[in-house]
Amino acid sequence: MSTPTRGIVILDFGSQFTQLIARRIRSKGVFSVVLPWNAAREKILSYDPSGVILSGGPASVFEENAPTIPADIWSWDRPVLGICYGMQLVARDLGLSVERVGKAEYGHARIRANSSHPLFRNTPAEQSVWMSHGDSVRGGGTALDVLATSNEGEMAAFHVPPKRAYAVQFHPEVHHTAFGDTILENFLVEVCHAERNWSAGAIVNQMVGEIRELVGDGRVICAVSGGVDSSVVACLVDRAVGKKLHCVFVDNGLLRAGEREAVTGLLASHLSAPLEVVDARARFLERLRGVDDPEEKRKRIGNLFIEIFEEVSTARGPFDFLAQGTLYPDRIESFSTGGPSVTIKTHHNVGGLPKNMRFKLVEPLALLFKDEVRAVGAELGLPRHQLSRHPFPGPGLAVRVLGEVTEEKLAILRQADAIFIDALREYGLYDTVWQALAVLLPVKSVGVMGDARTYAFPIVLRAVTSTDGMTADWAELPTEFLREVSSRIINRVPHVNRVAYDVSSKPPSTIEWE
Ligand code: XMP
Repeated sequence: MSTPTRGIVILDFGSQFTQLIARRIRSKGVFSVVLPWNAAREKILSYDPSGVILSGGPASVFEENAPTIPADIWSWDRPVLGICYGMQLVARDLGLSVERVGKAEYGHARIRANSSHPLFRNTPAEQSVWMSHGDSVRGGGTALDVLATSNEGEMAAFHVPPKRAYAVQFHPEVHHTAFGDTILENFLVEVCHAERNWSAGAIVNQMVGEIRELVGDGRVICAVSGGVDSSVVACLVDRAVGKKLHCVFVDNGLLRAGEREAVTGLLASHLSAPLEVVDARARFLERLRGVDDPEEKRKRIGNLFIEIFEEVSTARGPFDFLAQGTLYPDRIESFSTGGPSVTIKTHHNVGGLPKNMRFKLVEPLALLFKDEVRAVGAELGLPRHQLSRHPFPGPGLAVRVLGEVTEEKLAILRQADAIFIDALREYGLYDTVWQALAVLLPVKSVGVMGDARTYAFPIVLRAVTSTDGMTADWAELPTEFLREVSSRIINRVPHVNRVAYDVSSKPPSTIEWE
């Protein structure tokens, strides 16, 4: 997808909040893109930005080899907003003095701001902000308007009118900064006059046009998993090229209860393109027989998926394009002295891209954040419950049946999982957790049911809160809820006589057990 112009380019100096700046701006309907601080001038200006933001970062301008501001930035004649470290860069570059102060400001701080200045319009004179800096701007050298001062007496914001340079020492992008959103909005609207052309409807129209142009008379193959990303990609490509698309859903036998029917039913009603369902349950079980090492299981599942995908693409091909749901956070590679500022997640698209297959890629979501993908999905008519589904791993229940995977164990886990997930929905808890799952352990323990002794499997329930799956905390589900789910599982699922709840966070544990 090509980029809408007249957005905001954010140069990343390594702050953990850089992506957040981009998301905040996009949520206001203005396109924004994050580039590394040392991106080529041509690359930056290819976006024809209506403004440039310099993010914060862990470096100090006093360090040797500290990242620097683009050499000719002031000749671009675009408003520039420096945030935190970005403020010190702007200051240094414009001949102001920056000093290492004895006392770093970190966390909540109060500032006095000039509310009549466009950057602080609609914010009060006294406001609380979030700071994290050890260096401070002192002024001198260049005429500047001081726009805000902290209660420690440090300069908290300034403006150098001839250069169209703005800078804030605090982080307007974090919610602890009470009027941060207004300040960012002011920068976009009052200062940059940025265009608000970034909405789900506009994105869909633009992407559909571009996919159509890209694909031309070619044919596209797309593997769908039932997850949000692949469903949205399939629907978008379908809207663009209809029957030139061929969708493939592989039933690997490692799906949750009712999953195949739910996914194929939903997609069939949204696609005009054919949706081929490959029943590969027996092949996957066969491939997993006797294997209990988690990595070996994953490897075998991934390889078999690719084999099947190749079979389908040969049988139904030739195809020129592969459509896949790579998202923006998977692609951002943003480096600074402090290393990558955003986590590059090891992404497992459905089965991964077959290495020896020579497809051109259609990646319409490659500029979108997850919440934007959901908005696009809603725009395409996908139901809310589909768009808010918990993540589900490619290797499916195979990494939740610990040890060797058998049909019997899968059946037990499927029942327990369905009871847990249904109950979460019934109690209105589903959307309060990032992910919930059940695990079947490969051991047995003693119980008593009626008057009889039982010797059966334990089920472990796991529910976590998280924002990106990279770190997670166990969810504090209500005791009454856990009591009810436990009793439903033990009473209804044969071969289970015990339920445990996993109270481990990630790290040091992981979300999945294998
Ligand atoms: P872990 O277990 O590493 O999981 O804490 C983090 C997130 O990633 C999901 N996950 C996978 N997703 N293929 C996927 O598509 C995989 O092989 C895979 N392994 C883990 C997991 O469900 C959680 O959301």
